Amino acid sequence: MKKRIIVTGGNRGIGREVCKQLVDLGHDVTLTARSPEKGHEAAKEVGAHFMQLDVSNKESIYQFTAKFNKEVGALDVLINNAAILKDNGMDVINADLDVVQQTIQTNVYGPWRLIQELSSLLQKSDNGRIINISSGMGAIEDLRGDHPAYRISKAALNALTIMAHSQVGSSVKVNAMCPGWVRTDMGGSGAHRPVEKGAETAVWLATEEEIPGGKFFRDKKEIQW
Ligand SMILES: NC(=O)c1ccc[n+]([C@@H]2O[C@H](COP(=O)([O-])OP(=O)(O)OC[C@H]3O[C@@H](n4cnc5c(N)ncnc54)[C@H](OP(=O)(O)O)[C@@H]3O)[C@@H](O)[C@H]2O)c1
Repeated sequence: MKKRIIVTGGNRGIGREVCKQLVDLGHDVTLTARSPEKGHEAAKEVGAHFMQLDVSNKESIYQFTAKFNKEVGALDVLINNAAILKDNGMDVINADLDVVQQTIQTNVYGPWRLIQELSSLLQKSDNGRIINISSGMGAIEDLRGDHPAYRISKAALNALTIMAHSQVGSSVKVNAMCPGWVRTDMGGSGAHRPVEKGAETAVWLATEEEIPGGKFFRDKKEIQW
């Protein structure tokens, strides 16, 4: 069945590839990006619809969700992909807390506010899903002092995943996934995975008929929080 899907940060990297794979499977994808030019171009290339959305800006989120409600009015899957990593070289003790705040604003408040604004629409779907693109760097058992902003933001996104699922899980499955180390602007050229592999588990979580909820995945297998 054709699903209505929103992907954030869809103009490049893993988000763009997730959009491409979902369109290729026949789904109705709204690719969102903060840059209208880059977003339009990527959407045209992959065959998705485009809507502008800066996930770090609450007014942008409200404008986007109002427009989406009016123009599309139905949603099966929300994929919270957009994120930043700005703390290379930082550790917990020397962390620039303005960078931590900016990272949490984008990587946690963005997905959180979208979940708040879109969950009523998702609850009307027969098979509603929220997929939070997280990272093994936010797994509690692997936490270390480097990348403090990014790690804290992904640990918080994981917590948000569990909490949101506990609230809406009877109608909307909420899961987090780690794409592995992927060759993108964020992952860098030394990463061993291509974007096709990085997108795979998010696409599976969006489209597989039966999936668990409130879990953390990599390579379609559950991993530890
Ligand atoms: N690559 C990896 O190895 C890796 C590993 C683990 C997890 N992840 C996660 O996978 C996801 C995708 O990462 P990636 O490697 O594809 O990163 P990327 O190449 O840096 O792309 C990030 C995307 O997020 C968008 N974005 C950033 N801030 C935004 C905002 N305020 N509003 C809207 N869009 C915004 C960017 O848009 P602009 O072009 O406008 O900046 C871009 O489209 C992220 O959640 C990341 O944390 C990646």
